[in-house]
Order: sequence, then structure tokens, then C-alpha cells
Amino acid sequence: MRTYHVTTFGCQMNEHDSERMKGMLESLGYSEAPAREDADVILFNTCSIRESADSRLVGHLGEAKRLKAEDPERVVGIGGCWAQSLKDEVFERFPFVDVAFGPGQVPKLAEFLTSDSITAQGFFEFEGFTGHLPARREREFQAWVQISVGCNCRCSYCIVPSTRGREVSRPAPELVEEVRRLADDGVREITLLGQNVNSYGRDLPPGQKTSFSELLGTLDGVDGVDRIRYTSPHPKDMREDVIRAHAELASVCEHIHLPLQSGSSRILKRMRRTYNRERYLDRVAMIREHLPDCAITTDIIVGFPGEGDADFEETLEVVDEVGYDSAFTFVFSPRRGTEAAGLGEQVPHAAKRERMERLVELVQRRATERAQRFVGRELEVLVEGPSRTDPSRLRGRSRHNKTVNFDGAAVPGELVQVRVGSATSTTLAGEERLLARVA
Ligand code: 5AD
Ligand code: SF4
Repeated sequence: MRTYHVTTFGCQMNEHDSERMKGMLESLGYSEAPAREDADVILFNTCSIRESADSRLVGHLGEAKRLKAEDPERVVGIGGCWAQSLKDEVFERFPFVDVAFGPGQVPKLAEFLTSDSITAQGFFEFEGFTGHLPARREREFQAWVQISVGCNCRCSYCIVPSTRGREVSRPAPELVEEVRRLADDGVREITLLGQNVNSYGRDLPPGQKTSFSELLGTLDGVDGVDRIRYTSPHPKDMREDVIRAHAELASVCEHIHLPLQSGSSRILKRMRRTYNRERYLDRVAMIREHLPDCAITTDIIVGFPGEGDADFEETLEVVDEVGYDSAFTFVFSPRRGTEAAGLGEQVPHAAKRERMERLVELVQRRATERAQRFVGRELEVLVEGPSRTDPSRLRGRSRHNKTVNFDGAAVPGELVQVRVGSATSTTLAGEERLLARVA
């Protein structure tokens, strides 16, 4: 039997595309190889969001080159955003690559593998979804559902609009059908994916128009789905109807990811984020009003071109004021072809590093403080497996998206009640309620 090996970089969208690649390969009769060197087809699903992603990939490609030299019959393929951003240059720089394809071009991989083609080929159109391909899920009780691809925003730092194209939404009935099938297959938690999930549906033709909050309502009605999450929304589209959906729909989790990027209105303008500090904080106030207990998380970039000390102080102020449950923090990385890469006033490396340290310290302090509200409470936890630090305990996730380590007897995929005894910035610890009662 022919075998494959896939290495995935980047975001959840890429993780999901990789599941589709695997599902497709298995439907073609391939099976997964335990290691890259055992595979007939070696694939990389790549990311180009920051420079660090590029350099990691280049190391892996070195190994692929060696394996290809050992056995020229092997197929080496590069898919995803990095492949898209380099297009045909891929073959010049990496002549051992047989096939390169952008995100969304996964079906073309099957075409390539089933054709007699011996010449290298690239597929970089923006079209179609991977949504209709079979997927091989990592966990049977959790699934990603791609509701849209592409992005119509023009954030000046971001390469995604050029790698994933204009936004295209999948019609709601198709999504309901997919979620129904997943629920029948044992899935209890779904995560809706899109580059900008809450602008979902605006591009659909008049008869099919559905807003993001309506979609949440419809999916909440599918039997068997206990939890709905989504990522990533844009603050500009975080309207009251979406926030109400969290309050009113039983399955929509108490967690909102609201990417801030910067707390300075001046920098937000240079980033072309289309909101300023006040409007962002108004959205946070609206969330807190309807959902006082909701977890709020964010993404922040430090060292954007032109960011001065005063701008950075404003970011710290917003972080302090909001009190995020967690935050992903990034050092600005100039990306080819983006507007921000060409801006003057690039921030020196030392300043970026110093700001990052201060930011992380504040994020962690506030997250630790916020997490204390869970101590003494009983939370619903979806069990994912053994704890990473102590395999005699279990690990799961609360509706607030907190990792919970606990003593208990449950099995992966079960929903249990856990009494929380302590909390750090990233994890909660406790014990399963049933066990506590017996003891
Ligand atoms: N440099 C640094 N961080 C970036 N992000 C996107 N583009 C860049 C870049 N050029 C961050 C943003 C985004 C997250 C997914 O990655 O914070 O929300
Ligand atoms: Fe990376 Fe962005 Fe592409 Fe995801 S969409 S793989 S984060 S470049």
C-alpha cells in the first residue's frame, strides 16, 4: 500500500485543510506513514504569517530533498499559504518539489497523484473549498467546520488576503448538513473556521443571505452538538446580534476571541484595522454587559512600524483595562508584498523585545487574576485525554476554553463537571464531581 506523511504549519484553518488532505489521500488508497522517511508522498502544509514560520519550513525541506534524492519515485508536495505566496518560484528554489498548491487547491493534489504527469506542477487559483472532501479528524468528538475562505480586509501587516483570496462563504444549508453528519458521527464540539468568521454570509446571493448570528442559531438547533466555537472574528463585525447569540444559544461557548492588535488609535489606523481604541473598548463593554463571565482573548502585535513608546503604553492600558483571559502576542514581522513591509520607521529589534517582555508580563498577571473567578466553581469540561504533565490525571477544556487538569474517571469525549481548586494564567486544576461525592 502506498503511504503519505503530512507536516502542518500555521493556523487551525491549515490543520483543518490537512485533515482534508489526509482524508482525500486515504480515499485514494494511501495510508499514513509513521515517519517522513517511510512515506511515498511527503507533504508540507505551509504558513507564511511570520518569518519564523518560513525558517522552520526551510529546515524540514532540507530533509525532504535528501529523501527525494535517495528515492526519486517519492513525491514531494508543498501546499498552503507559503507555497501560494511564492507560487512558481517554489520550483526554482526547490527543484526537488513535484507539486505545489495554494490553500483550497487540495483537490488538485488528487488530480496530480492520479495523473501520469512527471513534470512539476503548481496550482494556485483561488477557487473552491476543501469542505466537500472527506476529512480524517484528529479526535472523533471534535471537528472543524470551514464556513468561509479568504478575507476582504486590508490589514496592512497581513499576508492572508494575498494567500487565501477574497472572502467566499459556503451556503448555510450545506453547513447544516455537514454539522448534522458530524453530530451523527459522534462529534460534540465544533469550531467554525474562517479568516473573518463574523462577516460570514455577506457575499451569498440574495436568496441565500444568512448572517453569522443566524448561522449560529441554525447550528445550535442541530441535535447532538453540545458546543459551538468559532475563530477568528474581527472586532468591526462583533455586533450585538452575535453577542446575544452567546447569551441565548445553549451550545455557543462563553469565549470570544477579539483581536486587538494595538491599543493605539494611531497605530490601528496605520494597520488599517477600521476601528479605534474607543470602538474596540465599546465592543468589550457590550460583551461584558450581556456576558459578564465570558472569556475574552486576543492577538497583539508589538513593534509595528511607527509604534512609539506612547503607542505601546496605550496597548498596555487596554490590556490592563480589558483583563484578557489569554493573549497571543507577536513581534511584527514584515511580509513580502504587504503595505506594512514598505512603511518607514521600522522599530529596532531591542525595543521590540523589551516591549514584548513587558506585554507578556502584564498579560499573564491579568490572566492569572481573571482565572481566580473559576476557583470554587463547578465547570463543564469536555475530556480530551490524559494530562500532559501528569498522565495519571485527565485533561479537558472548559466552555471558556481553559485547559483543565483534574482527577477523575471519565473517558475522552465525555462531558463532566469539575470542581476547580486552583487556577494559573493558563490552566485550571480540580477534580471530577462524581469522584468527589463518592470519596
Ligand atoms: N507580523 C506579526 N504578527 C502578525 N499577525 C499577522 N500578521 C503578522 C505580521 N506580519 C498576527 C496577528 C493575527 C495573528 C493570527 O497573527 O496578530 O491576528
Ligand atoms: Fe498561516 Fe495565515 Fe495561512 Fe493560516 S491563513 S496558514 S496563519 S498565513
